[in-house]
Amino acid sequence: MELRHFAERILKSASLEKKLAVPDSPLSDREPGEPWFPTEPVRPANLQFAPARTAPKMPHPNTLRDPQRRGVAHHIMANHELQACEVMARTLVAFPHAPTEFRMGLAKVVQDEQRHTRMHARHAERCGVEFGSLPVNCYIWKKSLEFSSVLDYLAGIPLTFEGANLDHSLEWKTAFDVAGDKKSAACMQVIHDDEIEHVRFGMEWLRQLKTDDQTEWTAFEEHLNWPLRPEKSVGNHFNSAPRLAAGMSAEFIELLRHAWETAEPIGSNTNRPNRQSSDKEAQSNTESK
Ligand SMILES: [Fe+2]
Ligand SMILES: [Fe+2]
Repeated sequence: MELRHFAERILKSASLEKKLAVPDSPLSDREPGEPWFPTEPVRPANLQFAPARTAPKMPHPNTLRDPQRRGVAHHIMANHELQACEVMARTLVAFPHAPTEFRMGLAKVVQDEQRHTRMHARHAERCGVEFGSLPVNCYIWKKSLEFSSVLDYLAGIPLTFEGANLDHSLEWKTAFDVAGDKKSAACMQVIHDDEIEHVRFGMEWLRQLKTDDQTEWTAFEEHLNWPLRPEKSVGNHFNSAPRLAAGMSAEFIELLRHAWETAEPIGSNTNRPNRQSSDKEAQSNTESK
């Protein structure tokens, strides 16, 4: 199956089953096509992007003994994963001239995101919430509209959204565990382990594609479009171990930790949250981005 066709099927199908279908045959990239910058993915009627502030917020971790709240959390995360599929497919069609090795690697990541979507949808349903029964937001997709290069994509998705999920996935694993839902906790561990590989993919390609006069850190910073910024790539607690496992250098990790510890909240220079730079698993206040 041609990579372009696989990407277009994700972007143009109104059926969730088709959007989440794995490639029909081994992928090839002989016909990458012309650059195409879709403004919105086609989605099923029950998963259309909802108007701002109408989608439910992430439930507080302390409420997760209620299966309905766990179902809402999985529903929101399933939509994050589906957007990841769509943004990655968009990157494939927008940058057909990117190195084939990058494109083939990205297609493998897409298949992980398809699997993650199915996992969260299944867990949401197990908790009594059908995927598509609640309004969903378009935050991650909207950010991708500003990517005008592969480096913008790398800084924005693998190194910011997926980077933050290195922490959030552990935070949610703990929260589900505390609530007594071992299956949901196990799901988060699988996603965490995959996310390490996705961040590694981003880091390796940032290293390859940055210019010689850029350090890894300056390339990362320079390719982030506001409001994305380095501290957004950290969850509520800073975990060094998964970042080291993802191949980040000790220097990069320290710069990230510093950016996160010293960041001022938007619109306020007071009441700064008390950040805990610890490498323990997160336990509280795990609201997703
Ligand atoms: Fe994922
Ligand atoms: Fe990922």
